[in-house]
Amino acid sequence: MRGGLDLRSGKGRRKIVLREKNITKIGRNDPCPCGSGLKYKKCCLGKDNIKVNNLEEVYLRKYGIRLKRKKDIEAIKRAGIVALKTLDLVESNIRPGMATKDIDRLVYDFTIEQGAVPAPLNYKGFPKSVCVSVNEVICHGIPGDRLLQEGDIVNVDVTPILNGYYADASKTFFVGSPGEDARKIVAVAKESLKRGIAQVRPGNTIGDIGWAIQTYAEAQGCSVVREFVGHGVGFKFHEPPQVPHYGRKGEGIVLIPGMVFTVEPMINLGQRHLKILEDNWTAVTADGSLSAQFEQTILVTKDGWESLTPYEL
Ligand code: MF3
Ligand code: CO
Ligand code: CO
Repeated sequence: MRGGLDLRSGKGRRKIVLREKNITKIGRNDPCPCGSGLKYKKCCLGKDNIKVNNLEEVYLRKYGIRLKRKKDIEAIKRAGIVALKTLDLVESNIRPGMATKDIDRLVYDFTIEQGAVPAPLNYKGFPKSVCVSVNEVICHGIPGDRLLQEGDIVNVDVTPILNGYYADASKTFFVGSPGEDARKIVAVAKESLKRGIAQVRPGNTIGDIGWAIQTYAEAQGCSVVREFVGHGVGFKFHEPPQVPHYGRKGEGIVLIPGMVFTVEPMINLGQRHLKILEDNWTAVTADGSLSAQFEQTILVTKDGWESLTPYEL
């Protein structure tokens, strides 16, 4: 289509033409963006009390999504650099015999040294500065006395807040040399993130991301966790939209420039089902199989995506 993007989503089938950054032109006979169900001409057209012509306003009103501007993106990127440096520090210290609480100490001290604050600490009662999830732990592992053993896999998920902005990233590391199962689940989780991110561009939908991940992971004989999803991030730890790692092509919210969200597929070697332990945080695979995860914070750009927590996949 010339002169703009065709943004269509779900049942609404609204056509919005993107003329320039964040500005829309809505036809007189299109459904009114205020959500009334009336035609635009019968509703908000001509009313200057509602900024219906502004996509930024539409996404906020319809979905609760706060688009990020240039200064916000620069700030999230700076938080992202802290996240990546923290993961590098952890990686260079990981060894058999280390307790998961030793990782928490490293993350807390380094984050503070960088002038940032660890978002997980006291978040909804979470007691530590980082999630450390070993083997069958899917996510939200609480650092403690568990000792890392040769052959373990361990996901380390960090979210520094720098100057009020959040960046969220995780990697799964090997402890010593991995066995065949460990190698496989880590490779599939990493490729799942790569394929999910590859779907990010204006005009694609949230569902395209989940579809790409689910199709790939299940073809490898693995499964996708459904109870935890990616999420908008930047101004807060968890913002709209939700980003499922399963789904159908073309479903869900249409992606537009300025959206920032995580993609963070949790992939199990066995079945997808989970249990939550007594601590009310730790999610483990119901069948005890290995689970791995990688996460980055992704910006939707004019012609695709940019990672604000970039590392090689
Ligand atoms: N970092 C996790 C995520 O990717 C959320 C952890 S919540 C916490 O969304 F409280 F456990 F830290
Ligand atoms: Co996240
Ligand atoms: Co995270």
